[in-house]
Amino acid sequence: MPRAGGAAAATRAPHQRAASVVELIGHTPLLDVSRLAPGLAPHVRIYAKLEGFNPGGSVKDRAALWMVRHGLETGALQPGKTIIDSTSGNTGIALAMIGAALGYPVTLVMPENVSRERKVTVHAFGAQTVYSSGLEGSDGAIILCRKLIGETPQRYFKPDQYNNALNPQAHYESTGPEIWEATQGRVTHFVASIGTGGTIMGTGRYLKERNPAIQVIAAEPDDALHGLEGLKHMASSIVPGIYHEDELDRKVPVPTDAAYELVYQIGATAGMVVGQSSGAALHAARVVARDLKEGVVVVVFPDFGDRYLSTNLWIGWGEWLEQRRRT
Ligand SMILES: Cc1ncc(COP(=O)(O)O)c(C=O)c1O
Repeated sequence: MPRAGGAAAATRAPHQRAASVVELIGHTPLLDVSRLAPGLAPHVRIYAKLEGFNPGGSVKDRAALWMVRHGLETGALQPGKTIIDSTSGNTGIALAMIGAALGYPVTLVMPENVSRERKVTVHAFGAQTVYSSGLEGSDGAIILCRKLIGETPQRYFKPDQYNNALNPQAHYESTGPEIWEATQGRVTHFVASIGTGGTIMGTGRYLKERNPAIQVIAAEPDDALHGLEGLKHMASSIVPGIYHEDELDRKVPVPTDAAYELVYQIGATAGMVVGQSSGAALHAARVVARDLKEGVVVVVFPDFGDRYLSTNLWIGWGEWLEQRRRT
């Protein structure tokens, strides 16, 4: 039976005791990563927002909670229904965690080639999985999910992260205010990698409302065929309904190799193993920060790297390490 009331709390005050894991979503810390960008002007700082500290391990906990809570409030999600969505992984983990905490079953449609760690994690939360072709990427999962819902629509609640306004709203109401508060309003540039676009749209909107001069910059894979799990190359993808490119000030194309190399550097010099999309975002943040005379750049690190240890990300690592030892 679904447990009532647990989704009521949005984000906890830091250090507060929690009655449900969903109350632990948000209030992630900022870490100064400026030394990972050599050559910055003295009054330029880069801070990473460490979304891996969310209880489900990623930035997607925020969007998932806002979408599920809205479903409960409107009655679109009620006892007897199953939460279903297509996801490249992190949203699935977030929905599985929240479904487990609130007592709702969860079915996830995902490309068959997502990392083993992700599959095991969602199963550990009791979710069911349906796999789409790995060759079709996240678009294949979207299409298969639509088909399943079409067969028995009354059975499911689909948060639909690509088109649900509550996805960016989560960031408008939590990520944005947290960044504004943590930098005491001194943030000048906001950088995030793009999957659904929820993080950049919602956070960007909030920050621009507080100070229209703040620049909002997307880190995007530089090619349709990329190795940056969770991210979209918009020109070759189904563009999410919530993504409005005209609200961005700039996009920085990110080569997969550059993102991977930065993941290795972050691990070896900042003491943090992060995912590919954090490397991609840091690449864009460095490009932006190097042109500044002064400024506070906040970049989102969407998750930690433990869920990618069996992926291609780590294949080139030994070579990189060897090269680093030689120089
Ligand atoms: C690892 C990772 N990084 C970045 C993103 C992008 O976040 P958003 O969907 O808010 O654009 C996602 C999810 O989509 C993700 O799973």
